[in-house]
Amino acid sequence: MYIAFFKERGHEVIPSASLIPDNDPSVLFTTAGMHPLVPYLLGRDHASGSRLVDYQKCIRTTDIEEVGDLTHLTFFEMLGNWSLGDYYRNESIAWSFEFLTREDYLGIPASSIWVTVFAGTDDVPRDEESAGIWERLGIARDRIVFLGMEHNWWAVGDDGPCGPDTEIFIDMTSAPCANGVQCLPGLCSCGRFFEIWNNVFMSYVRRGGELHDLPKKNVDTGMGFERTLAALNRVDSVYETSALKPIVDRLVSLSSYDDAAIRATPELTRALRIITDHLKASVFILGDDRVVTPSNQGQGYVLRRLIRRAIRFCGLLGVTHQAWAESAQTVLDMFGEVYPELARNSGRIHAQLALECDRFERTLEKGTILLQKEIADLQARNQSQIGGETAFRLYDTYGFPIEFTEELAAEHHLSVDRNDYERRFAEHRDRSKGDAAKSGLADTSEESVRYHTATHLLHAALREILGKHVAQMGSNITRERMRFDFTHPKPLAREEIASVEQLVQSWIDADFPVTHDVMPYEHAEKSGAIGLFEDRYGNDVTVYRIGDVSLELCGGPHVTHTGEIGKFKIEKEQSSSAGVRRIRAVIS
Ligand code: SER
Repeated sequence: MYIAFFKERGHEVIPSASLIPDNDPSVLFTTAGMHPLVPYLLGRDHASGSRLVDYQKCIRTTDIEEVGDLTHLTFFEMLGNWSLGDYYRNESIAWSFEFLTREDYLGIPASSIWVTVFAGTDDVPRDEESAGIWERLGIARDRIVFLGMEHNWWAVGDDGPCGPDTEIFIDMTSAPCANGVQCLPGLCSCGRFFEIWNNVFMSYVRRGGELHDLPKKNVDTGMGFERTLAALNRVDSVYETSALKPIVDRLVSLSSYDDAAIRATPELTRALRIITDHLKASVFILGDDRVVTPSNQGQGYVLRRLIRRAIRFCGLLGVTHQAWAESAQTVLDMFGEVYPELARNSGRIHAQLALECDRFERTLEKGTILLQKEIADLQARNQSQIGGETAFRLYDTYGFPIEFTEELAAEHHLSVDRNDYERRFAEHRDRSKGDAAKSGLADTSEESVRYHTATHLLHAALREILGKHVAQMGSNITRERMRFDFTHPKPLAREEIASVEQLVQSWIDADFPVTHDVMPYEHAEKSGAIGLFEDRYGNDVTVYRIGDVSLELCGGPHVTHTGEIGKFKIEKEQSSSAGVRRIRAVIS
């Protein structure tokens, strides 16, 4: 309805962008509908014109600890309409009002709408214009609240496009709480007001602390889809809306408690919301066309955290990990049509969720025992902080994301020595970075690390299919592809290429653990490790083992399990120099 409404008013529909932002290292995920449009808000021409409308999938993890209450979600959809130097306050506010109140659209009574507008600063005038427009449309003055910078100013980071906004709230109860006249939208958090839409008049850009006018005056609006549904359906939680309820119902049916028991116990209600939200978020991250799989860095780490956190709360509800992972199907059934990439990538979604659950299942119990012992020790000694060494061990050996350990600690009123943990983590990372430089990796991004492990599998598979004369002559890895040079006297037959590809894929699918040991050079040589021996430094070498299919001298870094690699494809096989062949391969 929203899309149709704005189409009728001259807007072009633009597709939802990837959850993984383009060329923006400052954030891991697309966190708002406007995010992919920043270059256009700054002045670049958009191919679809100056009036745009969309629905955008978003991930926000800043509030992950709040997920479990009535309104916070890590995954949500945002509806947006945009003017790139086209219409401004008048049309923007009038159309929002029309869409919200008209019977044939949302039909929300004007009497339950409240708005906030910008109160002004020394640099930017008080937004009497917006207030006047709202008033003329029929919003009484006492339902228009003027608020300052911290409420009615929207900005992208410290240096970026920004401007005053007007926020639209639905009054869910029509009765002030105990705060009386202070029970106001934007200020009171009693639950009476649901913020559903934010219209930003984006006409400034901040550079080095100073405000400058943008070349064009833009409008950026964002309407929270789930919250709007909740307001429309007059339910107080987003989990009761059709955007989440089918997932909730499915998970309740898998729990050892019934609906009534869960509702009656706040702890279980919270757990149910967490596993619902985290399942939906995980499915959308895994279903994106830009490949992300659970790992120890970047987006992959967030995904790992979501899955592992969900597994813990599944335990509380008596939902098995397998059943939780399989419930991805419910999310696919609900959203596969609107977001075709989910249907396209459903194989990866199911496989990766199952793999990550299995992996964590193997270490969760051992790690929990270690942590419980540590907690008991601390309590016996009247201490309240878990040391960085334990936290790092839980992370490195047992796969406990640090936030996970912190959450468990907090439940026992303990903290974690985060500084010490970070120091150990940084040491570990710097070692890996130095090693990466020696391994032909352009960087230590998640993609490059996945490619790096894939080269080891490719090396082993070539030796298996073509013979033990195959030796690596070099490799070159970027985020987009890998090149691998090896000794072999003649071009590969088509069947040979297919066999190598299949073998590598079967090893990936087996989800072998990737481990490493430091050992004396002679020992490595004796145990049959392959690799570029001449590059070694000192007498001790690091040897990476992948299941029992590969043993190779290497400094890392690598993925922790081969399943993280995904789908492996050989794109090209050609000559590199006399007696040396070159394979170009991609993973997705
Ligand atoms: N930039 C505003 C928001 O994200 C409106 O899109 O809330």
